Amino acid sequence: MSEEAPFASTPPAGAPKRAERLTGVKGMNDLLPGDSERWERLEQVVAHWARSYGYRQVRTPIVEHTALFKRGIGEVTDIVEKEMYSFEDALNGEHLTLRPENTAGVVRAAIEHNLLYDGPKRLWYTGPMFRHERPQRGRYRQFHQIGIEALGFEGPDIDAEVIAMCQRLWDDLGLEDIRLELNSIGDPAERRGHREALIAYFEARRDRLDADAQRRLHSNPLRILDTKNPAMQSLVEAAPKLADFLGDASRAHFEGVQALLRAVGIPFRINPRLVRGLDYYNRTVFEWVTDSLGAQGTVCGGGRYDPLVEMLGGRPAPSCGFAIGVERLLELMKASGEPEPAPACDVYVVHQGEAARTVAFTVSEALRSAGLDVVMHAGGGGFKTQFKRADASGAEFAVVIGDDEAVARTATVKALRGADGERGAGRQESVALDALPDYLVDALVATGD
Ligand code: HAM
Repeated sequence: MSEEAPFASTPPAGAPKRAERLTGVKGMNDLLPGDSERWERLEQVVAHWARSYGYRQVRTPIVEHTALFKRGIGEVTDIVEKEMYSFEDALNGEHLTLRPENTAGVVRAAIEHNLLYDGPKRLWYTGPMFRHERPQRGRYRQFHQIGIEALGFEGPDIDAEVIAMCQRLWDDLGLEDIRLELNSIGDPAERRGHREALIAYFEARRDRLDADAQRRLHSNPLRILDTKNPAMQSLVEAAPKLADFLGDASRAHFEGVQALLRAVGIPFRINPRLVRGLDYYNRTVFEWVTDSLGAQGTVCGGGRYDPLVEMLGGRPAPSCGFAIGVERLLELMKASGEPEPAPACDVYVVHQGEAARTVAFTVSEALRSAGLDVVMHAGGGGFKTQFKRADASGAEFAVVIGDDEAVARTATVKALRGADGERGAGRQESVALDALPDYLVDALVATGD
């Protein structure tokens, strides 16, 4: 590299040293062009999809009181025990937490603003969540969720509705490698019966439990069933099943959900081991999983959480919902061959000379007012460089303004796409500036853009 190179890696002797580079926080990702277009497309699909089922958006703060998650998610859960970004507000001593999920926040907001006073509500949200987990593919410390919360609905129809919503979203996005796992974890009294049986069972086999399981034996034995430890699989396999402790109402509810799913042809597998990692659930729980993403294959998780509204101080309101991991969903979209969204604008404005720059600037604004997507070249460079950029921009047409055109109040319009020929790439025409917006709008219609 020459000594004059603006970003030479070894600065000349005596030159000031470049500042040390700062990096982002581990497990927290930047979303860059290429992926951001995919994300944007997903958000558009999601907004339409949620509206089509009658769900309305809520946006709650990223920071909540720590007590909300302790009470909502449960003290003896991985999230609350070891994954929360909690801190004390230096100014007033409040105990605050970056939300690790948003069901508790949405329910808090619904209670605080009395949203359920005139009946149940269908709500959705999207945004960043924070969990201090060990980062790996598909598991991040800042990640994003799209969530659905149906508050105040009792019957199995709403469980089936939120599950059918997922299926429709996968269909809308063209995803195939994703399947539904379903279970019922019953009501608190039923779980107590099961819990006692579980404790007795594991207690009698204490020597075969790992440290995590021993610690949870009395505080949260249900979570032992969720162990990933291969040495404990056979033990867990033979443990008492919750299904055998469900009463008539829970059983009927679960059968109702299954019947509705069958009625619309949504396949599922009942997974008696599916318990989920948050304490607020009861009855129906479900996960959508894929084999295309490696170890972190759960794209979406949810279920019914009838006790939560009351637990957070509201009047009892049976509810149900789910959250989709956006990063995982986008990975799955990529894995299933969704094409890379190409950058695209209608017109790239190429210009050279001072008079031409002013004309190019006003022409660009006029074209935008006519509804076109316009990129005006900036940063100098000869025509050759500018045409390269014009090509890379995905524009259909280049509008070229030099000093001669500036004086003559004309522009040269050059077609950049399509096969060579009368209407294809390379064709060019001189157009009066006043006529340019109409000319380009017509030309774009003709190209089918
Ligand atoms: P969750 O199972 O904890 O449930 O999270 C839902 C989804 O968020 C997961 O299936 C996964 O796709 C994604 N996810 C979770 N943690 C991470 C992470 N560290 N990195 C990347 N993605 C992650 C909930 O959060 C409940 N609030 C869902 C719900 C809503 N239940 C009822 N309503």
